[in-house]
Amino acid sequence: MMLKDKVAVIYGGGGAIGGAVAHAFASEGGKVFVTGRLLAPVEVVAKDIVSAGGSAEAAGVDALDEQAVDKHLQSVIDKAGRVDISFNAVGIPDTKILGVPLIELDVEQFSLPITTYTRSYFLTARLAARHMVPNKSGVIMTVTALHSRTGIPLVGGYGPAMAAKEALTRDLSAELAPQGIRVVGLRPQAMPETRTIKEAFEPRAKAWGMTWEQWQKFLASRTHARRLMTLEEMANMAVFMASDKASGMTGTIVNLSMGSLDD
Ligand SMILES: NC(=O)c1ccc[n+]([C@@H]2O[C@H](COP(=O)([O-])OP(=O)(O)OC[C@H]3O[C@@H](n4cnc5c(N)ncnc54)[C@H](OP(=O)(O)O)[C@@H]3O)[C@@H](O)[C@H]2O)c1
Repeated sequence: MMLKDKVAVIYGGGGAIGGAVAHAFASEGGKVFVTGRLLAPVEVVAKDIVSAGGSAEAAGVDALDEQAVDKHLQSVIDKAGRVDISFNAVGIPDTKILGVPLIELDVEQFSLPITTYTRSYFLTARLAARHMVPNKSGVIMTVTALHSRTGIPLVGGYGPAMAAKEALTRDLSAELAPQGIRVVGLRPQAMPETRTIKEAFEPRAKAWGMTWEQWQKFLASRTHARRLMTLEEMANMAVFMASDKASGMTGTIVNLSMGSLDD
């Protein structure tokens, strides 16, 4: 068990990535505290984990609300004694941020992903780190996208938001690694089984005169493996990066683009 008795808090745990990571952490022995903006979706995730024999607790936590994150972390410490892993998988609906050319984009719509993603990641990382520093140990993680490193049309402020999260990952690591805390990100290619990707790409496929299936094949053709990554593969990498086996990695983003994006 790679994460035996490690205490993990997951933000955005009701989503595709957060849910998959919660399941994977628990199946490797982690004690998972799965949180989301709304309680109901994270309760489903926690129930499934417990039914499968794992350890999970659900809580409604708005990851943009400093007091809510702080209060929840304190409750985790009270119950489990410490926090070993913080994983921010928060995502805001792409329908609110994609699809408008930059020259026509309203400044509020442009700023929304930048302020939301950076605020949430900063808050969850900073508050977790305050509990990790006394233990001289911990792993802070998040997820970004290829948009951080390559130009893509009609994505508004999403690319700058992802680039900012990657910069913050490096900066957090530069300050926290000397105190035993690793900070790492995962940058997966689109995983077509997720609702987010279907919603983001289906209209674009349509505009190109392609079906959703043709679009997936097109994306897959740009990878070395000629296929797209599964949620399970991404979650397995999250387990490895959260585990002590990855003790040599910090201040970096793991490129999970299957060859479609060079570092
Ligand atoms: N899916 C992919 O293939 C893929 C690939 C690369 C990168 N990414 C990125 O990874 C992130 C997660 O993707 P996903 O597919 O898992 O998205 P998702 O299924 O939409 O999940 C995002 C989760 O974040 C929650 N959330 C939103 N605002 C929150 C807040 N203030 N506090 C707490 N939770 C909040 C959402 O809850 P509500 O529904 O209640 O708002 C939702 O459960 C996104 O940034 C996405 O762009 C995704």
